[in-house]
Amino acid sequence: MSETNLPVNEKFIFNKQDSSGEKLHEEREKSIKNPQDYWAEKAEAIDWFKKWDKVLDDSNEPFYKWFAGGILNISHNTLDRHITTQRKNKLAYIWEGEMGEIKTYTYYQLYREVNKLSKIFKNYGLKKGDRVAVYLPVIPELPITLLATARIGGIHTVIFSGFSAEALADRINDCGAKVLVTADGSFRRGKIVQIKKNADRALEKTPTIEKVIVVKRTCQEIDMKEGRDVWYTDALVAAGGNAYVPPEPMQATDPLFILYTSGTTGKPKGVQHGIGGYSVWAHWTLKWGFNPVDEDIWWCTADIGWITGHTYNVYAPLSLGITSLLFEGTPDFPAKDRWWEMIERHGVTILYTTPTAVRMFMKFGEEWINKHDISTLRILGTVGEPINPEAWKWYFKVIGKEKMPIIDTWWQTETGGFMIAPLAGIDLVPLKPGSATYPLPSIQAEVYDDKGQPVTAGNKGFLVIKSPWPGMLQTLWKDPERFKQTYFGRWENLYYTGDYAVKDKDGYFWLLGRADEVLKVAGHRLGTVEIESALVSHPSVSEAAVMGKEDAVKGEVPVAFIVLRSGFEPSDELRTQLIKHVRTTIGPIATPDEVIIVNKLPKTRSGKIVRRILRAILVSAEIGDMSTLEDASAVDEIKTIYAEIKKKSPK
Ligand code: PRX
Repeated sequence: MSETNLPVNEKFIFNKQDSSGEKLHEEREKSIKNPQDYWAEKAEAIDWFKKWDKVLDDSNEPFYKWFAGGILNISHNTLDRHITTQRKNKLAYIWEGEMGEIKTYTYYQLYREVNKLSKIFKNYGLKKGDRVAVYLPVIPELPITLLATARIGGIHTVIFSGFSAEALADRINDCGAKVLVTADGSFRRGKIVQIKKNADRALEKTPTIEKVIVVKRTCQEIDMKEGRDVWYTDALVAAGGNAYVPPEPMQATDPLFILYTSGTTGKPKGVQHGIGGYSVWAHWTLKWGFNPVDEDIWWCTADIGWITGHTYNVYAPLSLGITSLLFEGTPDFPAKDRWWEMIERHGVTILYTTPTAVRMFMKFGEEWINKHDISTLRILGTVGEPINPEAWKWYFKVIGKEKMPIIDTWWQTETGGFMIAPLAGIDLVPLKPGSATYPLPSIQAEVYDDKGQPVTAGNKGFLVIKSPWPGMLQTLWKDPERFKQTYFGRWENLYYTGDYAVKDKDGYFWLLGRADEVLKVAGHRLGTVEIESALVSHPSVSEAAVMGKEDAVKGEVPVAFIVLRSGFEPSDELRTQLIKHVRTTIGPIATPDEVIIVNKLPKTRSGKIVRRILRAILVSAEIGDMSTLEDASAVDEIKTIYAEIKKKSPK
């Protein structure tokens, strides 16, 4: 692969002008030389009901077992162990609702709420290993539900509340959840979103659900199905005000949660994380990355429907015993300074967000920020997609006042926590805008070419991880073959990330986006095949090819080329209908930016769509070799159609 141009000459050095990264490299060396001893020592940071027999059981690769034989409960580690200390009355959460209402929970209050819901779960007959589906906006009941599920030994699966009824039903059915926790509605930009109606539609085809617990959020009239649906508050009363449920002793290797994420096929993957390894990884990655202290107010802006929210809004900060801010709303409602107003109001000290948010604020302009005193901030972070150097520098200058490091954390749903990131908690190396710097201790990352050989410094290739780490996924729910194939099928015993990367001559990693048919739209992970399946499920569509197109704010947006079935004619109305159809089939995050109706897609003689050509047309690039095409005239036709669309509505 060709050499990549990187802004390698620009170095941003903070505080420790002279840090050579020696301490970090020492720590990395120690962890790689003897991972068993290293992780045995690190695992002491959390409580175990019984210590492990083996730190890493690798007898059945790639199904690694971390802390095999160990017994613990993550709800004990995030709650019970703090309430016997001075942390008891410390704030665990400050929650701010979209309308500005504020609720706080001390560790003790959170512990009590979790116990009450655990009691309800017990009353419903939920047992160890049972699945609980969660379809909630970011309200306190969301982390409470996760912790209560973990407490009784259940397995939670959170479905992002922006997903459709169909997506919800598919996920519930895949994992066979018995209970669903949802709300009577949610707020988005001052309007009510009918999530209970979505849930009801999903529940028509989810035979495993026995009980639905409904949190009152919007207080609107909704349908409650007799015998199945129960109000959360009524259930709490029935559980009794002083409920206590002892945390179930769990094997370290038992599953903690399933989180569905997009892959290269239409069917989302049920990424399964185990209790022991994930607990230790969540704890240490946050400590290493941001080094939060008791006085900090940590704000990770992710929705708990995604992995970032699971690890860095729930398990890691609570395990460390720090105070987190949770926010239900959107950054520009009711005005474009909502976040800065909140940082001022709550004295936020660490802000962890996405490059999309940073680019959006760049667009809004500095005046919104300058209205507020955000001087409590001391450290900044990003996640979810590559951060372009311009956005990085803006974040550093305008928000960070050129005093704070940007902790750019590369990781995935599958990795459980940060994998490559600057580590303020160990040794902050000089930063380069756009690079996530070095891998964390224990992480042996490399960049390979398509033949499975390491590329030389400065060259682009595929990012792989060469050895197991505690936070790694255990498997894909009920699909071990797909797990093996997807992550370890390309090169044996190497974890394939699906990302492009470059390692520069200083050993810094630059993450360059997905190398497969997965998109990152505003940091959200979406499979092109999922969107294509949604499109062809519409009666008018015979074929669809979806790809990402660069977008100045969202990083990329989906664009669809489609061929209609006979009897259907292209029209603006049909295009709008198709966009709406994708929104209702998957959810608003999958909304295609454009639907381009063509007569024929460019295909090889064996019938494979040549996406490279469609991509070239989108960006008006050279088409390149067309010799393999079955009918090259399709290309000119698509070019003409696209040029006409652009003429009509230039973007
Ligand atoms: O392509 C990488 C991108 O997000 C993908 C993982 O997405 P998801 O499982 O939804 O998890 C997102 C939150 C951890 C990766 O394969 N990605 C994530 N963080 C970064 C990134 N790309 C570049 N830089 C990052 N910091």
